[in-house]
Amino acid sequence: MEFITYEVEEMIGVITINRPKALNALNSQVLEELDATLDSVDVGTVRALVLTGAGEKSFVAGADIGEMSTLSKAEGEAFGKKGNDVFRKLETFPIPVIAAVNGFALGGGCEISMSCDIRICSDNAIFGQPEVGLGITPGFGGTQRLARIVGVGMAKQMIYTARNIKADEAYRIGLVNAVYPLEELMPAAKKLAKTIAINAPIAVRNCKKAINEGLDVDMDQAIVIEEKLFGDCFETEDQKAGMGNFLEKDKEKKLKVVPFKNM
Ligand code: CAA
Repeated sequence: MEFITYEVEEMIGVITINRPKALNALNSQVLEELDATLDSVDVGTVRALVLTGAGEKSFVAGADIGEMSTLSKAEGEAFGKKGNDVFRKLETFPIPVIAAVNGFALGGGCEISMSCDIRICSDNAIFGQPEVGLGITPGFGGTQRLARIVGVGMAKQMIYTARNIKADEAYRIGLVNAVYPLEELMPAAKKLAKTIAINAPIAVRNCKKAINEGLDVDMDQAIVIEEKLFGDCFETEDQKAGMGNFLEKDKEKKLKVVPFKNM
């Protein structure tokens, strides 16, 4: 891999987009390497991922403008699909993914963060969808996910104006869950990932699936999705241990129901 690094610490996988000369912009090679990295994650042992960018200035400064500048209509559509396919893989990845946004998250950078389950950022982060200033629409899911996260009115304003917003505004509109000084961002992301990782993994995965799939259908269908995933947790070792610990009235275990198994 030239542009992606992947490290595992305990039950947490950290994926870093590492193309600092272009502020971690996403060209085809970065997208292909990210796709291959996701395929290589051992979801039997890794329970949460953190996605970040290399350096202190940029998370991801967008899709690669140089690569896009000469594309035909058909090639543009194919490039959009290439990004969308990887981002959808991230969004539907079986374990939770936290975006640790450490600087510019523009265009494809904002879009990749929105494919993650949770976004936190550093106080120097800048978010935006500048595409209309480049003569294109957002192409890696921005027209769809931004409206779902911050609401239609705010999404349309950000996209139509191409105006960037700072970390505090991203927090105010609900695009990120928390803002940290830059040096505290990765420790906070790992701490959050570990807090998730000590919970019952089948239950966490089923929650992700229930929330994601339920949002795509009406409430009658959504609650059926939940019922099935709720039922799926029963008879697992985690369910037996988790409830058993509670019923044993063992205060130690009740406070710290670990370690859960994967099966
Ligand atoms: N594509 C390709 N290269 C990029 C890039 C991008 N999106 N963003 C930055 N770079 C490169 C610059 O060309 C520059 O390279 P050189 O040193 O070889 O000239 C290097 O990264 C450093 O960038 P700057 O000198 O511009 O750094 P700066 O601090 O002055 O500005 C910035 C930083 C405001 C992020 C500015 O680089 C910028 O505006 N970048 C483009 C952001 C953008 O428009 N992103 C959206 C792309 S379109 C998209 O993503 C479509 C989609 O939805 C799929």
